[in-house]
Amino acid sequence: MNSPQSIIHLSSSSLISFLFYGLAITCLPSATVSASYGGNETDYHALLSFKSRITHDPYKVLTTWNHSFHFCDWSGISCGKRHKRVTVLWLQSQGLEGSLSPHVGNLSFLRYFSIWNNSFQGTIPHELGRLSRLRHLYLSINKFSGVIPTNLSGCSNLEDLWLNLNELTGSIPKEISLLSKLTTLEIHFNKLTGGIPPFLGNITSMEVFAVVGNPLGGSIPDTLGHWKSLTEFDSAECNLYGSIPHSIFNLSLLVNLSLAGNHLTGSLPSEIGNQLPNLEFLQLRNNELTGVLPPSLSNCSKLGLLEMSDNNFSGKLTIDFSKLRDIYEIRLYDNNFHGRGKADDMRFVDSLKNCTKLVKLELVNCNLIGVLPVSIGNLSDQLEFLHLGNPMYLEALPSKYGSPSCLNFIYLSNNRFPKEKIQ
Ligand SMILES: *[C@@H]1O[C@H](CO)[C@@H](O)[C@H](O)[C@H]1NC(C)=O
Ligand SMILES: *[C@@H]1O[C@H](CO)[C@@H](O)[C@H](O)[C@H]1NC(C)=O
Ligand SMILES: *[C@@H]1O[C@H](CO)[C@@H](O)[C@H](O)[C@H]1NC(C)=O
Ligand SMILES: *[C@@H]1O[C@H](CO)[C@@H](O)[C@H](O)[C@H]1NC(C)=O
Ligand SMILES: *[C@@H]1O[C@H](CO)[C@@H](O)[C@H](O)[C@H]1NC(C)=O
Ligand SMILES: *[C@@H]1O[C@H](CO)[C@@H](O)[C@H](O)[C@H]1NC(C)=O
Ligand SMILES: *[C@@H]1O[C@H](CO)[C@@H](O)[C@H](O)[C@H]1NC(C)=O
Ligand SMILES: *[C@@H]1O[C@H](CO)[C@@H](O)[C@H](O)[C@H]1NC(C)=O
Ligand SMILES: *[C@@H]1O[C@H](CO)[C@@H](O)[C@H](O)[C@H]1NC(C)=O
Ligand SMILES: *[C@@H]1O[C@H](CO)[C@@H](O)[C@H](O)[C@H]1NC(C)=O
Ligand SMILES: *[C@@H]1O[C@H](CO)[C@@H](O)[C@H](O)[C@H]1NC(C)=O
Ligand SMILES: *[C@@H]1O[C@H](CO)[C@@H](O)[C@H](O)[C@H]1NC(C)=O
Repeated sequence: MNSPQSIIHLSSSSLISFLFYGLAITCLPSATVSASYGGNETDYHALLSFKSRITHDPYKVLTTWNHSFHFCDWSGISCGKRHKRVTVLWLQSQGLEGSLSPHVGNLSFLRYFSIWNNSFQGTIPHELGRLSRLRHLYLSINKFSGVIPTNLSGCSNLEDLWLNLNELTGSIPKEISLLSKLTTLEIHFNKLTGGIPPFLGNITSMEVFAVVGNPLGGSIPDTLGHWKSLTEFDSAECNLYGSIPHSIFNLSLLVNLSLAGNHLTGSLPSEIGNQLPNLEFLQLRNNELTGVLPPSLSNCSKLGLLEMSDNNFSGKLTIDFSKLRDIYEIRLYDNNFHGRGKADDMRFVDSLKNCTKLVKLELVNCNLIGVLPVSIGNLSDQLEFLHLGNPMYLEALPSKYGSPSCLNFIYLSNNRFPKEKIQ
């Protein structure tokens, strides 16, 4: 009766398939049931195995996963129209608890696999490495433990690999570098060690690399300078040592660069602002960086956040902020700038006039000694946090700051206010 072809042809709506499979179940001996699915028995069994490992399904999303429906109509599943093989498994944010069945590795037509934001625990099955058609793998925000399987290198078409916010240990397998189409590697907030493998530089398609919050150790390999398409580099809080390789400053498409909270030393190249003209987010706080803040940063006209606090930058602060019209946060506290008390030490404040989006300006404990220009009174109306500190003479404390509605926080600790000038 129901040949696979006729069912494929007729089951264009789930109602029709409901009727047919209902019939199939009642009329056929069980051995032939799955053959009549018009799809592939292997996919069917792999999905049943996936379901069998789920111990809690609070939103009852898997209740449709039964004989009444073709598996291609189960919630969270999509199939190829013609061949009826599973191409998409999409069950994110469903509160699912349990472990991940290795049988998923049998869904050989799978292209998109997303179970992020659930409570899967146990290891990531190395069988996933058989999914050679897989392009997107999203396992973030779960409780996966154990290592990143080296076999993932078998997913040769993988573009996005998201494993962030799990409890993964061990090192980043160097086999990952065989994923020659990878654009996004998000493995932040795990417990990975063993450094950043230099081999990763071979993935020239890389656009987003996020490893923040792993105790990786080691230094930043200069081979990462091969990532010519990189827009986001987030290796904050990774226990990294050594200097930032100059090849990194050659990645001219970089939008976000965060290396905060490491032990990085050395100085920034004088041309940084001209080499990275697309920077929007530059976060190098809490390191051991030295030298001047390069004046070329004046050319990063898209910069929104500049966070250089808690380093040992020195010299005179000569950044001209007038072209940085999108800047909203400047944090330079805890550094060791000029400090010679020259009248023009604070002149950079004049250049902030056009920064109409500025919300935070933090300069405390910078060793800036000088005369604070009255132009500080013309800073953005949105400025809500101004932290100056340090001996700093104010030419005038602008009267507008007398009104607490404008600034949520003004901290002028240790300043010497010329009495006659306070308004
Ligand atoms: C089902 O898929 C598997 C793996 O791709 C394959 O070996 C098997 O021949 C397929 N079976 C049918 C009935 O198409
Ligand atoms: C399959 O699931 C649907 C929806 O939850 C339900 O109405 C139907 O009774 C179930 N069928 C079987 C055979 O369990
Ligand atoms: C995660 O899933 C839960 C539902 O289980 C939802 O309430 C929450 O908003 C989701 N979180 C994110 C970041 O999507
Ligand atoms: C599917 O995968 C499991 C575990 O990886 C394996 O034991 C099984 O033989 C595979 N094949 C089929 C047809 O289910
Ligand atoms: C994992 O890879 C190893 C070799 O790298 C291979 O021997 C093994 O069969 C693979 N396992 C799976 C499930 O693909
Ligand atoms: C990968 O990179 C390493 C050094 O980082 C290099 O020695 C090796 O030849 C590269 N492999 C391929 C396949 O490009
Ligand atoms: C840059 O980082 C910010 C803040 O973390 C984020 O909102 C934004 O999407 C990132 N942009 C790019 C291009 O990576
Ligand atoms: C930066 O890129 C240029 C041009 O591709 C190249 O000649 C130079 O060696 C690179 N510098 C570093 C430090 O990688
Ligand atoms: C900023 O860019 C302009 C135009 O490319 C260049 O002439 C100037 O020298 C740059 N300024 C700094 C401080 O590097
Ligand atoms: C910071 O730099 C100054 C010289 O610019 C030096 O005297 C001081 O020891 C440095 N401090 C640290 C903590 O490296
Ligand atoms: C600052 O803004 C004023 C008024 O909008 C404008 O005339 C001036 O050219 C701007 N300066 C710079 C350096 O963009
Ligand atoms: C503050 O802005 C006003 C109006 O744009 C201008 O007239 C005044 O000269 C500015 N004051 C300073 C100190 O820049």
